[in-house]
Amino acid sequence: MKPGIDASMGFVGVSTSQSSIMKVFPQWARFLGLPAAQLTGFDLPLDADEAQYREVIDRIRRDPLLLGALITTHKIGVHRAAADLFDELDEFATLCGEISSVSKRDGQLIGHAKDPVTAGLALEEMLVPDHFGSTGGELLCLGAGGAGTAIIWYLARRPDSPRRIVCTDRSPERLAELTAVLGRGGVDTDRLRTVVADGPADSLVAAMPEASVVVNATGLGKDRPGSPLSPAVRFPRRGVVWELNYRGSLEFLHTARAQASSRELTVVDGWRYFIHGWTQVVAEVFGLCLDSATTDRLAEAAEAVR
Ligand SMILES: NC(=O)c1ccc[n+]([C@@H]2O[C@H](COP(=O)([O-])OP(=O)(O)OC[C@H]3O[C@@H](n4cnc5c(N)ncnc54)[C@H](OP(=O)(O)O)[C@@H]3O)[C@@H](O)[C@H]2O)c1
Repeated sequence: MKPGIDASMGFVGVSTSQSSIMKVFPQWARFLGLPAAQLTGFDLPLDADEAQYREVIDRIRRDPLLLGALITTHKIGVHRAAADLFDELDEFATLCGEISSVSKRDGQLIGHAKDPVTAGLALEEMLVPDHFGSTGGELLCLGAGGAGTAIIWYLARRPDSPRRIVCTDRSPERLAELTAVLGRGGVDTDRLRTVVADGPADSLVAAMPEASVVVNATGLGKDRPGSPLSPAVRFPRRGVVWELNYRGSLEFLHTARAQASSRELTVVDGWRYFIHGWTQVVAEVFGLCLDSATTDRLAEAAEAVR
């Protein structure tokens, strides 16, 4: 059966109907002339079991009207439970054990872990190409979950790369897994320092040199209220401060914005990361190559319902 008016792209999450992308996607579909007019949401609970993951992936695999899917929240669960249902997985999906993009090519089901690509696109918009080399700035990533790992992975392999990378997490196991993933991917882990942290990591921020990049990848300020830093923290002068979320209580973002002028900071929220996250999976599912002008048009359409 050929895709047509009833065809859609899947969206696997927790409460997909509440996401603004449900309203945005039909506009993008019209603008790009996609053979799918809307998203089909698959809501799974946070503690979904293996059978639930396999059922969703099997449905996407078999249904010719489902042309692919984006997976949030359940990226690791889908890999753990259903990796064998895919014909092909990309390098980062296999290394990190997560799948965020499902696409179909010539009858094959393909899984990608897009986070390093999408985090990279967002980072390139906030950093000049020789940012680390020309300033001596370093990287402090607060949180070593999927997003923190992808950001470190991307920046560690960037031609202009931080000399030193500091990463915190509440869990020593997650930090060990981060080190293992980087090592398996051929990254020199001698420049990585991992720190188990729960309360405010202000002293680590204070120790960062000028122009360092400080990322809140903990989810604090959205997934849970709070911040991995106290309001009294002093960001490195001329630093780049990135909050990965764009909605929520966003305490970390507010702290950074309050110092933006006095400390000459570049402060960025997670909006463009969100846009790149979706546009890259749409491009993969529909076999498109999106230039930056087209991505900007898609971002404008999304901005209207932000
Ligand atoms: N804008 C976008 O499109 C976009 C894209 C990707 C991610 N994000 C956001 O980025 C955030 C991170 O995503 P993720 O998938 O990596 O989440 P995740 O897997 O939950 O990772 C967050 C990590 O930070 C740890 N953590 C919590 N509090 C901490 C603290 N005070 N200090 C140090 N580490 C702490 C968490 O530990 P525990 O699990 O023990 O709490 C967890 O290991 C989420 O809020 C997500 O919404 C946004």
